[in-house]
Amino acid sequence: MPAVLEIDRGRILRQARRINGDAPVIAVVKNDAYNIGLPLAWRTFREAGINAFATTNLKEAVAIRELDPDSLVFLMNPSTEFSVIRDHRIEMTLPSMDFYVRHQHDLSGIRVHLEYRNLLRRSGFADPEEMKRVLEEGAVEVSGIWTHFAFADEPGAPEHEQEKEDWLAVLAELSPFVQHLPFIHAQNSASYMQDGLLPGHTHIRPGILLYGSRPYASLEESAVPNVVTVRANVIQTLPLKQGESSGYSAAFRAEEDCTVAVCDIGYGDGVLRARARHDVLINGRRYPVAALMMSHLLVRVDETVKAGDTVHLYGDDIRVDRFTALGVGANSEQMSALNRMSLETVIKE
Ligand SMILES: Cc1ncc(COP(=O)(O)O)c(C=O)c1O
Repeated sequence: MPAVLEIDRGRILRQARRINGDAPVIAVVKNDAYNIGLPLAWRTFREAGINAFATTNLKEAVAIRELDPDSLVFLMNPSTEFSVIRDHRIEMTLPSMDFYVRHQHDLSGIRVHLEYRNLLRRSGFADPEEMKRVLEEGAVEVSGIWTHFAFADEPGAPEHEQEKEDWLAVLAELSPFVQHLPFIHAQNSASYMQDGLLPGHTHIRPGILLYGSRPYASLEESAVPNVVTVRANVIQTLPLKQGESSGYSAAFRAEEDCTVAVCDIGYGDGVLRARARHDVLINGRRYPVAALMMSHLLVRVDETVKAGDTVHLYGDDIRVDRFTALGVGANSEQMSALNRMSLETVIKE
């Protein structure tokens, strides 16, 4: 088999069931469910009892609705495609006073969640007084209120304490208007792991916790079982004499006599250059990457490695989140890069 992306659906199901059993989940399924595949994620989360989904992309929101006539589909970015949103019963963020003033008539028949800007400063109302005005005027149907924390992934950051305090104060101030809303949500994976469900909230809104990576390094690995394995094959091993090179423009030049394994995976399959600065696992042993090409990887190996051996880039003993801690890139960045067109996807039940 060519290089493979294996997704452990059984573990995703058990993790989703456990978390949703402790706190109701709005599952973040944006960017093709962190690249594990939206239909697979939706089916697994539904089986786990989750009935609320969020994405930033209207096309994905429509796709979820087409799979699922009953669940909440929440669009976290605003869109002006009002008839599509209305026809698919998508609930959408209300991102600003300006959007409200311009579009309150267009929003007729669409349920919105008021967004508080907070320290992320990406979108959302900056001033709770404006949110109060929207609630008092009753010109749009508000079914939720939400925010997104900018510093939750840095446990102990004073900014996170600040943004949490500000948000809880906003909820308290607007409480007479919002306390009975069906959707009050703020917490990503890191926030939930630190604080549990915050008071006055109906749901958490995690992503990565459902996809097998720890949102911050001080969490026990057992709290978030790995679900992603990426493995390739040694095509052949190649002895190189000191000074000889291999790869385009001498991508690797031997400083001493050595052996390299040529493997059938490369950056075209989504292996980040930053990931290639770290080892791979072959037969349970670690070996350094010598060069990364589009469809090939050169690994410096010893005489025990043979053509046909399996090369692990990610897996239970070589987890995505460990490379995050090493500075390779966010968990989601590493996962998003994986090329599901070229890698063979295998689902483990
Ligand atoms: C608005 C919003 N909420 C929730 C999440 C989920 O975050 P995480 O994957 O850290 O749980 C994201 C992800 O980036 C997001 O953009």
